Amino acid sequence: MSDLLSLSHVTKLYRQGGMLSRRHVTAVRDVSLRLGEEPEILSIVGESGSGKSTIAAMILGQTAPTSGILNFRGRPVAVHGKVERRAFMREVQPVLQNPFEAFNPLKKVDRYLFETARNFSPDGIRPSQADIERMADRALVHIGLTLAEVKGRFPHELSGGQLQRTAIARALIPQPRLLVADEPVSMVDASLRMAIVNLFSQLKKELGLSIIYITHDLATAYYISDRIIIMKKGEIVEEGGARAVLDNPQHPYSRALKEAVLSASPDMEPASLV
Ligand SMILES: Nc1ncnc2c1ncn2[C@@H]1O[C@H](COP(=O)(O)OP(=O)(O)OP(=O)(O)O)[C@@H](O)[C@H]1O
Ligand SMILES: [Mg+2]
Repeated sequence: MSDLLSLSHVTKLYRQGGMLSRRHVTAVRDVSLRLGEEPEILSIVGESGSGKSTIAAMILGQTAPTSGILNFRGRPVAVHGKVERRAFMREVQPVLQNPFEAFNPLKKVDRYLFETARNFSPDGIRPSQADIERMADRALVHIGLTLAEVKGRFPHELSGGQLQRTAIARALIPQPRLLVADEPVSMVDASLRMAIVNLFSQLKKELGLSIIYITHDLATAYYISDRIIIMKKGEIVEEGGARAVLDNPQHPYSRALKEAVLSASPDMEPASLV
């Protein structure tokens, strides 16, 4: 079976201390992973500075690896070229950490949805306003909102949860195959997190989306992921099915994570049982 995404021996060094410095930090070291064609949720967890966001940025083509190969559908992830980038972004969309930063406070949120709909209209034909509104509404309905609820609103007129759901809806408009969500619920009220990440499970089922879910929040990762990757200092230290990793952690770090899950989530139901 062909791969949706594959990373092969990917390493990323960042220069430290200015252009002329020879010092480097190894943000990601020799990481290999793959997503198959079958929709799945892959969580990447690990302590701060372990390289999670660097992996996300490389998968999104925002930065190139220092060495190694990243392929999406068998072709190198598009880092350059306006046409190539747009074709790539149609299939791979980001969900950002902080919805209040993703949206300009002075701009109505519907404008983001409309701009994305205009930029990613099917067939590249210039869509009518009615088509644009239909695309935005269709995406919003998938995450439990309607265009009527967000139309004409400024970001501060929506709750953090509504705004993050709107950001997820925006990412759905191009009808992508893969979402890369880097800490998507860390700025959202703890009581709403599970509801938002449960949307990911639902989107996987309804739309056949694959999702890379990057988080510190192990409880949510455990309940929605098919697979979990645990990173430490730029390297993958453990990888496997969510249940397997947390039921039988091999690495001291994964053992600590398991304890965090157990103590953090006595009242949570696994998504698969809801
Ligand atoms: N643009 C950059 N320039 C220089 N160093 C960077 C840059 N981005 C990340 N780093 C360094 O690379 C390492 C990995 O950072 P990264 O942001 O990928 O970690 P992370 O796992 O996402 O952390 P967090 O959980 O805090 O978000 C860190 O040591 C970080 O300081
Ligand atoms: Mg990060």
